[in-house]
Amino acid sequence: MLNNSGWLHAITAPPTNPQPLTPNPLTPVLTIDGPSGSGKGTIARRVATALGFHLLDSGALYRLVALAGSQQGVAADDQPGHARVARELEVQFGMDGAGEERILLAGTDVTRAIRTETAGAEASRVAAMPPVRSALLSRQHAFAQPPGLVADGRDMGTVVFPGSPLKIYLTASPDERALRRHKQLKDKGLTVTIAGLSQEIRERDLRDSSRPVAPLRPAEDAVILDSTGLTIEQVVDQVLALARSRLPAIS
Ligand code: C5P
Repeated sequence: MLNNSGWLHAITAPPTNPQPLTPNPLTPVLTIDGPSGSGKGTIARRVATALGFHLLDSGALYRLVALAGSQQGVAADDQPGHARVARELEVQFGMDGAGEERILLAGTDVTRAIRTETAGAEASRVAAMPPVRSALLSRQHAFAQPPGLVADGRDMGTVVFPGSPLKIYLTASPDERALRRHKQLKDKGLTVTIAGLSQEIRERDLRDSSRPVAPLRPAEDAVILDSTGLTIEQVVDQVLALARSRLPAIS
């Protein structure tokens, strides 16, 4: 069971109140975009914890839409069907008593199920559907709550929170990204080969950066951070230093 007191953020959908079409301009939002395996997820989580901010893992939303769509028998190419799934997604993000991430889809724990490479590839397929992206927009905006938000994804700085005062584009060499993903998945008990992962990462990068809607690319005013050869702590320190200089409410 989830430990309510440890929740980072919890939402149930569909929302009962209309959500704002734009995020609350008074809430500072720090965006972290980049390709898969760049370390965004880990860095975003650590930075959010250090700042006491909420966290939006937007990739998890696309993974959940793909999973819920296949569970509901929605055809792979059915865009309105997947958009309906995205609107009705009943999801809760939280942590268990041991501080481990837990994601519930309609009350069922899908934390592991959505983290596989197959789930990532399926997410990237539904993420290329414009109606799905529109359907998830207000849900993502709703995460921008005081005291602030760290938003992790592909289009956080370019599309979802274009007014963000600090946009980071985190990247790393393809080899390093494959090695990191390999370690991450192995730690989660999932078996994958580095060669298979490299191939998977290349295909996903290509699909994410070449799609016509919200392609993966740095915002014009993004700070590009190459984390190749850097430790997690070094990257977190760089992001926190930038946050302190760019976000007025943080010192
Ligand atoms: O970040 P993660 O690997 O969980 O994302 C899974 C997929 O979801 C990505 O490959 C991408 O296609 C899609 N995605 C997206 N926009 C985001 C976050 C993720 O298109 N903001």
